[in-house]
Amino acid sequence: MTGSARPTGAAEVFEQAAASYDRTGVSFFGPFGAELVRRADIRPGERVLDVGCGRGAVLFPAAQATGPTGHVTGIDLAPAMVALTAEDVTRAGLTHVDVRVDDAQQPDFPPGSFDAVLAGLVVFLLPQPRQALRAYARLLRPSGRLVISTFGVQDPAFVAATDALAAHLPADQARPTRPAGPFDDEQAISATMDGAGLAVTSIVEHRVESRFDDVDHWMRWMWSHGGRALLRHLPQDRLPAATADAAEALAAARAPGGGLRLTTEIRITVAVPAGPPDA
Ligand SMILES: C[S@@+](CC[C@H](N)C(=O)[O-])C[C@H]1O[C@@H](n2cnc3c(N)ncnc32)[C@H](O)[C@@H]1O
Repeated sequence: MTGSARPTGAAEVFEQAAASYDRTGVSFFGPFGAELVRRADIRPGERVLDVGCGRGAVLFPAAQATGPTGHVTGIDLAPAMVALTAEDVTRAGLTHVDVRVDDAQQPDFPPGSFDAVLAGLVVFLLPQPRQALRAYARLLRPSGRLVISTFGVQDPAFVAATDALAAHLPADQARPTRPAGPFDDEQAISATMDGAGLAVTSIVEHRVESRFDDVDHWMRWMWSHGGRALLRHLPQDRLPAATADAAEALAAARAPGGGLRLTTEIRITVAVPAGPPDA
């Protein structure tokens, strides 16, 4: 599987976004990744897998936590993400880190390979998240833990702005929906983990405020991550009107000193193997 995987589904969007992902001058993925690693309580010498590593928001803090006596492997299905992050790893001189193309749905490693499996803002993108969590449970050593982050309650101004953009989609283009899912709230997360043979030890909320110079900056940021999945379906000639409507919808996010600010909430869940893993 390693090296032969092709970006499909969500990863296809991130393949296009890789060059600007987390590089638009907005504080977002970095602080979320650092907090996930803090909650994972990684110790020097541990072996860590970071699934859906992107540009390394989780990978780099994890590498610092394991130190050179440990090891961190990052996997991502988007080859551009992997290539750019691998360059950053080399530039940073981190010989205890490797990054490779692999599918977070079923990572290709022997059972019991890791002390910690980390998944920052990725499990809800997978076609079969419950099966993926089961696979992560199998990859853990008996004393290991899985730490994931998922989105919590969204900033109403962000929801209004994305709805304003979606209103400009062509009539035959499906609107983004928010169906009930396995990570919707604490109860759903616990039930999902339980079904994967994992016992939740903590779920904490963490909020980050992100600042934008103006709506154009917000749009550049939207193109640089999963927001691209919506924007790429907007007809070119609708973009100015869509951007104007998004600006209006973001009125509640206007900061007193100028610019925009949005608060994003994530939930960080720590879980441990509940017993012998499922077959
Ligand atoms: C929202 S980003 C999060 C990246 C990083 N963990 C962070 O916190 O910044 C989601 C990442 O998951 C990757 N991804 C999506 N589906 C995947 C899959 N099936 N296997 C591996 N990676 C996947 C995307 O390419 C993208 O890099």
